[in-house]
Amino acid sequence: MSDQSVKADYFVIKALEDGVQVIGLTRGSDTKFHHSEKLDQGEIMIAQFTEHTSAIKVRGKALIQTSHGEVENL
Ligand code: TRP
Repeated sequence: MSDQSVKADYFVIKALEDGVQVIGLTRGSDTKFHHSEKLDQGEIMIAQFTEHTSAIKVRGKALIQTSHGEVENL
């Protein structure tokens, strides 16, 4: 995957309750958790998919916006 297409991809996560977790999963043959970020209500995380991160898992009530659309975790 080209560096350009990876780094162009931003997503936004807005926590709708305290303790929302954004978990980064590693790119490559081994899919592991590598980072867990905790957000409190109203906090926003703006992040990218990178050479280290190919997927994220969101736990808790949050609004997630990506280039593919918007989804709310209830
Ligand atoms: N060091 C991580 C990386 O460059 C930081 C990061 C980027 C991250 N996007 C993320 C961590 C999404 C958690 C979720 O890949």
